[in-house]
Amino acid sequence: MFYAQILTLFPEFFDSPLSCSIPKRAIEAGIVSVDAIQIRDFATDKHHKVDDSPYGGGPGMLMKPEPVVASIRAARDRHPDTHVVMLTPSGARFTQAKALEFTEKSGITLLCGRYEGFDERICDYVDEELSLGDYVLSGGEPAALCVLDAVIRLLPEVLGSPESAVLDSFTEEGILDWPHYTRPEMFEGKGVPEVLLSGNHAEIEKWRRAQAIKRSKKRV
Ligand code: ADE
Repeated sequence: MFYAQILTLFPEFFDSPLSCSIPKRAIEAGIVSVDAIQIRDFATDKHHKVDDSPYGGGPGMLMKPEPVVASIRAARDRHPDTHVVMLTPSGARFTQAKALEFTEKSGITLLCGRYEGFDERICDYVDEELSLGDYVLSGGEPAALCVLDAVIRLLPEVLGSPESAVLDSFTEEGILDWPHYTRPEMFEGKGVPEVLLSGNHAEIEKWRRAQAIKRSKKRV
């Protein structure tokens, strides 16, 4: 079973999204286990302090190194071979190729920050820093959820149709999916491309590939 450990100040953030749709089914089927671990539990001071103001001044609060590093150590104690990923806007961009790479591991540990970020020294205790994109979220949790979702759907046995994995190989090469249509055949005056109604599978395949390439060129 693939495991995911999430180090976070908000374990409850993950309850609802993981109890829907594909992640829910994957967890119920025993394909993946998800453990949200409260970083605050590793704070040893009286007030369980996890954040503090930055040296040198400036706005906001930073995640303190002691509880965060203690939580990383606990994650490594449970899974000594674990790959620890810090979610931060200054990380490398998360991609479909990276999601696929993670499925080849026995599991991952996702470290979510809040406030203005992490004390820089925490970076020495993680294996990789990833960003979802060039924008700042209120914390690493939504980013960790996206990483987890992208990984879960790629795990063997999670998606019903093996063709879905083939489609992913296109996205990996940077080629987007083609346009899709379902019933009704006419919607508010808009029809469905004739070729899709033709029953000619070779022609349909050709059309889809051409559309995917056209779309990819336009969107890059
Ligand atoms: N934390 C805050 N913003 C983020 C982003 N864009 N990606 C990953 N983690 C983040």
